[in-house]
Amino acid sequence: MFPLQLLALIFISTPTPDLKKRRQGEEEADRQVKGRTDRQYELVLKRGDLLEVPRTLFTHFGIYLGGGRVAHFIPDIMPVVSGDQIRIGQMVTNSRLLLGVLAKCGSVRVDSVEDFAYGSEILVNASDKVCSRPALNGEEVARRAEKLRGHVPYSLLWYNCEHFVMYCRYGTVVSFQTFQFCKTVRKLLLSRRVAKVTAVLGACLLLYLRAVSAALLAVLLPSLIWMAS
Ligand SMILES: *[C@@H]1O[C@H](CO)[C@@H](O)[C@H](O)[C@H]1NC(C)=O
Repeated sequence: MFPLQLLALIFISTPTPDLKKRRQGEEEADRQVKGRTDRQYELVLKRGDLLEVPRTLFTHFGIYLGGGRVAHFIPDIMPVVSGDQIRIGQMVTNSRLLLGVLAKCGSVRVDSVEDFAYGSEILVNASDKVCSRPALNGEEVARRAEKLRGHVPYSLLWYNCEHFVMYCRYGTVVSFQTFQFCKTVRKLLLSRRVAKVTAVLGACLLLYLRAVSAALLAVLLPSLIWMAS
């Protein structure tokens, strides 16, 4: 667990008080905007609807719960390294996400439709055409999603955000995405960002090992010399 906490310290910066204040102001403004859009979503979406957002590497899936809220399963390191519910509740950043994938953990969380979509277009019920099973009743779908809320081990291959919605909406845990898993992993490994992170981690590890061996040497060498003389 220790290396994970160290990693989290490196990657997840705590906002400075000044920045925090500004953010609070922004959040206030945000809420007012959101209040309006949430009602707009209410007109279009029904409880239990399947929402899909195409992302660079994956399609992200979620279940609409009503009231502008979406339940979705996302890799996240925070529940492992911190018990602070407020920090866990904040929006998941890319570094949290990436570390979550590496540490194989994540959570089913409830976010606003905006946070879920992250500026992308939302497709509704698109998988209904692909899945051979009919969708369950909307209320049942939403209730399943709510029941699974919380911290779950995340495995890219065996339990990802698509498995989560498939279980909720169709009662099956097939993921069409896993089919494309190898392709995605190759893309992920080749992506520059990940390469950079790996390089930095490697360098840190090397420095750490060197520091340890240098310290050992500093301690051992005098005694060796003393014994030899
Ligand atoms: C999605 O599917 C549900 C049935 O499961 C339906 O009631 C709802 O209207 C659909 N939503 C949209 C936006 O098509």
